[in-house]
Amino acid sequence: MEDCVVLYEKKENIAILTFNRPAALNALNTEVNLKLIEHLNAAEADPEIRVVVLTGSGEKAFVAGADIKEMLNMNAVAARDHAIKAKRVTDKIWNLKKPVLAVINGFCLGGGLEYALACDLRIASESARFALPEINLGIMPGSCGTQRLPRLIGLTKAKELCFTGDIIKANEALALGLINYVFPSESLMQEAMALSGRIAKKSMPALMLIKSAMNKGMEMDLESAAIFEIDCFGLCFSTEEQKQGMLAFVNKKK
Ligand code: CAA
Repeated sequence: MEDCVVLYEKKENIAILTFNRPAALNALNTEVNLKLIEHLNAAEADPEIRVVVLTGSGEKAFVAGADIKEMLNMNAVAARDHAIKAKRVTDKIWNLKKPVLAVINGFCLGGGLEYALACDLRIASESARFALPEINLGIMPGSCGTQRLPRLIGLTKAKELCFTGDIIKANEALALGLINYVFPSESLMQEAMALSGRIAKKSMPALMLIKSAMNKGMEMDLESAAIFEIDCFGLCFSTEEQKQGMLAFVNKKK
């Protein structure tokens, strides 16, 4: 299992998926993408898993981007096909019925940042570094980076990052609203487990409906999104968690 390109570990209700090509700074190749989808499907299907964590092995990187060596000799058709396969991964993360937390322990570049952008929450170590450096290779982001980044931090800074390829530090990413928290490297995973653990205690159907309302609603006009939210809100009342949660409140119990 140790030589698997993406590791899968289960800790109580949390699935920890670890990009595991440290010698290549966890660069994303076809094998990684296929394995990641397989693990995401497994985590989604496992009723004991309530939160999914994505992280990178080694000291240096979350993911330093798509594997440049694999892309080197691609023609336009092959590159388009390659990007469509990567889109299956970001779609899978974005639409996963469970919250996904990116735990960013180093370089988070190119496709690595684009995968992190598809996650619901992002926390990083003080040593983490972020960029969309594709411009420096004569290409552009191809896994929704030009779309998700501006939706998250606004067009002004997103264009600057895409045009310059500049690498920014964790505290700047925090100030831009790109990530939720920065922690010292030594405590990053402990903090990730604490945050995941708090979320894992919540109602799964409500978490799924909140994620769906927010992700899908962002792509709709406000009126349609509000109606979609109302439908999701209504659905919450079909769950046991709603009954227990409200009854506990009125009976002054936890
Ligand atoms: N693809 C393939 N291999 C990579 C890689 C990548 N994206 N990033 C790093 N590596 C490999 C290096 O080739 C090197 O391997 P060798 O020892 O076999 O030479 C190993 O990882 C260590 O890397 P460095 O020696 O370069 O380490 P460093 O500390 O000097 O530099 C770095 C670190 C600044 C992250 C540098 O490796 C770098 O710039 N990497 C490329 C980053 C990049 O351009 N990413 C975007 C890729 S394109 C993309 O992602 C497209 C998309 O949108 C889908």
